[in-house]
Parts: sequence; C-alpha cells; structure tokens
Amino acid sequence: MLIVETKADLRTALNAIRKSGQTIGFVPTMGALHEGHLSLMQMSKQQFDVTVASIFVNPTQFGPNEDFSKYPRTLEIDKAMLERDGIDVLFVPSVLDMYPKGQTTSIHVGEMTELYEGAIRPGHFDGVATVVAILFNAVQPDGAIFGQKDAQQVAVIKRMVRDLALPVNIIVGDTSREADGLAMSSRNRYLNADERRESIGLIKALNIVERELHAGDTILMAKQAGIETFEAFSPLGKLEYLDVVDSETFQPMTSFEPNRRPLTAIIAARFGSTRLIDNLPLTP
Ligand code: PAF
Repeated sequence: MLIVETKADLRTALNAIRKSGQTIGFVPTMGALHEGHLSLMQMSKQQFDVTVASIFVNPTQFGPNEDFSKYPRTLEIDKAMLERDGIDVLFVPSVLDMYPKGQTTSIHVGEMTELYEGAIRPGHFDGVATVVAILFNAVQPDGAIFGQKDAQQVAVIKRMVRDLALPVNIIVGDTSREADGLAMSSRNRYLNADERRESIGLIKALNIVERELHAGDTILMAKQAGIETFEAFSPLGKLEYLDVVDSETFQPMTSFEPNRRPLTAIIAARFGSTRLIDNLPLTP
C-alpha cells in the first residue's frame, strides 16, 4: 500500500494511475476504522480498479466543545487493516497540508445543513462539505463511497456534488451493525458497559417507527411509539431527536405516503458525553 502525506504527492501518484486508464474509487474517513469502514472499502474494490482511502481527523467539522482532541486516533492499527484488505493508496495529510495558512474559503450547502445534526452541531456540515471538496480535488476519484449511517452527511454531499457539478459518482454503503443492532461507529468505544447495553434503544425505536407507519399510523403516532420504545430500552439515554424526513432534503415530514419520495427515520441520543446517531431508510 502506498502511503502519501501531501496533496502534491497524491496528485503525482494518481496521475500515473489515471493516465493508464484505471478507475479510482475513494473512501474518505477520520480513521479509528471498524468493519463499517472496511465494508465501504470492499465496495470500492469491487467497483473500481484502484482504491484510495484517506484518514484525516478534520478539525473544521468539530465544534469548540466537541471531541476533536479526544477523537480516537489509531493510525498504526488502521494502516495494518487497510494493508491487509488490499487498499492501494492511503492518504494521511496534515492539517497544514489540507488547510494552508490563510485559507478562508468554506462551503455552505444550504438550509438542510442547519437542521438536526446541523442544529445541534452548528457549522459541522460546512466543515464536512469543505474538507470533502478539498479531498475530491486532491483525489479526483471516479466514485466516492460514504456510509448510510451518516444519512444527513450523505444528503449534504450529494447536494454539493449536484450543485457544484463535481464529476464524482456518490455511492452509499449500508449501515454495518453489531450483532444486537447497534450501528457501528468509531464513537461506540466511548460507551461504558451500561450505556453500551442500552444503546440498542436507537435501532429499537427506529424499527418501531417503521413498523407503526406500515401498520397505518400517522407519523406523529409512530414517532410517539418510537420515543416510548427508546425510553423503555435506554433509561440512561437522553433523546435529542427522532423524526421522519425526506431522505434528500432532510425536511421533516408530517404525512407518510408510501411511493412518494424516499423517506428516512432518524434518531440521535446522548449517553453521558457520547452522542450516537442512527437512521432507517423507510421502505415504501
Ligand atoms: O464521515 C466521516 O468520517 C467524515 O465526516 C468525513 C466524510 C471523512 C469528512 O471528514
């Protein structure tokens, strides 16, 4: 596996690959890799000739009181996993290489970045959109793979790619889950044993919302059933939101009409100082 630390070196390495006519798949990450990331890498390997992964804990997507400094950094283990899984190129830039001194440009994708995750984490999606645009420019991939686990991030990136006419095909990989249903996340390792046991309340609540909607309940009733389910499974958890949204715009929905535009049930909750998010795309 080729390990590259600057955008300039990356461009040189990838130019040769591109000139030889090979396609490039890209999986951006912040490291602390788990099975969920690795399944996205496998998707890239199946669809593209060459797979590039990046590991960069992006400071601009963390708020001042968030976990940037304590975000898990496991670079040596991550490298070994990527090497084992046959990833071709790993890009591990420094903050200075990504954000040269004096940089003032940032990307704001619009209203959807101010809802839900964006309301709780102001500026988060500006940081995500900006770093993803810089990474896309550095890698110039044919396709980039993101996890459905971060559904709002997926919606924001798809919107940015469409609005800025970026020549990248966005591919979404299903959420990988632990045996009990908890969505895999680098932040799960912060949970203590009691919080970990109760964290299944998120997926239990989403499953109930889906079941109730299909049984003919209104969104309001389904959400109420989801809240009660979360409270029953997760007394230690503090629910931040549970809603049903348009999967593309993240606008809240008030009526469930099967066969309309795709909808997603979304949830976020805090266990102690750990925030967890999850979602379920609703089948029509
Ligand atoms: O999903 C993540 O890990 C990050 O938000 C991303 C897309 C790598 C941008 O920093």
